[in-house]
Amino acid sequence: MSEDIRWEVVEESALSLTDHEAIAAMLAQAFPSWSHWYVGGRSWAGMQPERRVLGRTEDGVVLAHVGIRRMFVTVGGEDVLVGDTGLVGVSPRLQGSGVGRELMERVHDVLDGLRVPYGFLGAGEDRIPFYAHMGWHEFPEAVGTFSAFTADGAGVVETEQGGWMVRPVTARLEDWPEGPILLNGQQV
Ligand SMILES: CC(C)(COP(=O)(O)OP(=O)(O)OC[C@H]1O[C@@H](n2cnc3c(N)ncnc32)[C@H](O)[C@@H]1OP(=O)(O)O)[C@@H](O)C(=O)NCCC(=O)NCCS
Repeated sequence: MSEDIRWEVVEESALSLTDHEAIAAMLAQAFPSWSHWYVGGRSWAGMQPERRVLGRTEDGVVLAHVGIRRMFVTVGGEDVLVGDTGLVGVSPRLQGSGVGRELMERVHDVLDGLRVPYGFLGAGEDRIPFYAHMGWHEFPEAVGTFSAFTADGAGVVETEQGGWMVRPVTARLEDWPEGPILLNGQQV
């Protein structure tokens, strides 16, 4: 890796407007089809995270980012506490150089520190192999229902099969309940 990255974990309430702007600027590059959304200080797309993992340059430019929020999801009729993980992005010029691995290792440390039973995320089909490589487990048969990102239209309920991924933290993977996943809200 060619660049010296400063890593930090920041609680949402500690973020300044400048921080939100720096995060939004990177997310707009990492998710070009949503660049219309990540403008100004709008550094989230659905559920606002409670904690961020940030990799920055010395002068504060954000190069890597993840948002995490604890929430309950209903799985097969059971309420399960998860650390919902999203807004995973690395600056395009650094993608493929190991920064994503460093980022996810820090995410795992945060999830461990939160002592949630599971980390949870919804991955696009082309990103499933990356998260699987990082130790996340996909439930390909699982059907998840969630409110679409505000960027796509608030309150619209969508159902998708596949891409629902879990990382056991304090609970065991085999204890993840069977059945449909109801997020009862938006994803991070
Ligand atoms: C997805 C993303 C965060 C990955 O970050 P990255 O810096 O490119 O990833 P890295 O180079 O650190 O790769 C980490 C590891 O995953 C592996 N990997 C990356 N993509 C992979 C893929 N599609 N399939 C299998 N393994 C993959 C790498 O080979 C590497 O393995 P190694 O550490 O054992 O050598 C980054 O590409 C990105 O921001 N993409 C655009 C935004 C996005 O799609 N975010 C995810 C939304 S669900």
